Amino acid sequence: MTHVEHLKGPQPFDKTRNMAATAPKFLSVWDIQAYYGESYIVQGVSFDIHEGEILALLGRNGAGKTSTLRTIARLGNPSLKHGEIWLDHEPLHKMKSHQAAQKGIALVPEDRRIISGLTVEENLKLAQINPPIGWSLDRIYELFPRLGERRRQEGVTLSGGEQQMLAIARALARDIKVLLLDEPYEGLAPVIVQEIAKTLELIRDQGITTIIVEQNAVAALKLADRAVILDTGQVVFDGSAQDVLDDEGLRAQYLAI
Ligand SMILES: Nc1ncnc2c1ncn2[C@@H]1O[C@H](COP(=O)(O)OP(=O)(O)O)[C@@H](O)[C@H]1O
Ligand SMILES: [Mg+2]
Repeated sequence: MTHVEHLKGPQPFDKTRNMAATAPKFLSVWDIQAYYGESYIVQGVSFDIHEGEILALLGRNGAGKTSTLRTIARLGNPSLKHGEIWLDHEPLHKMKSHQAAQKGIALVPEDRRIISGLTVEENLKLAQINPPIGWSLDRIYELFPRLGERRRQEGVTLSGGEQQMLAIARALARDIKVLLLDEPYEGLAPVIVQEIAKTLELIRDQGITTIIVEQNAVAALKLADRAVILDTGQVVFDGSAQDVLDDEGLRAQYLAI
């Protein structure tokens, strides 16, 4: 079956998946192969996501998680040499990063990129300088009350958890369909991780589709509907998040937990 037929054809019922499995595929990554110069890093990765799902993209350090997110967001490096990426019937594989962003892809990188010298609110307003504009500031502050309280504080002076919230909020300030989160829990205390996870559930409830890359695999699996595990740039598991939590062998082999 080719990829296109796969997208158009009726979806087989899979009782191991949740209700969203009956909806058409929303984001479809098919056999993507990407290189840093001569280095072959993303080695034929394929997976699908339904609208409103949270997918945990896991794997050991160096497995290719960040590279996969960067490829989906169409950043130039690594460069995509083969494969297709479809978002809501749009061919992202033919686009540059700014076009993919216009179509609704938002990558929140590991280093968060809060702009120094700007307040929380200015960071958010900057994201709304050009259309398509997403959530209003009021709606953002409703979801992230801590950001509302600190709206006049310089963004880079926030705590790590608050900066992560700001980075996510800034993505939502634009009209997005898919949130790509690279290690959002890194360096955060468990109580803050839980707070962000609750927020990500609320964001899912509002229809946003999320891919979360995390070293804290257990936290990501508790949040996610599904999991894809990468090893040396290839998919070694694609299934329900609960199945990974239940499979000690799989976790030991690929996640070291
Ligand atoms: N800019 C780069 N240039 C060359 N190789 C890179 C670059 N970034 C990452 N790599 C290599 O690509 C592989 C996958 O890296 P990455 O996608 O960052 O993995 P992960 O996010 O799963 O830890 C690693 O072997 C890494 O050394
Ligand atoms: Mg990484």
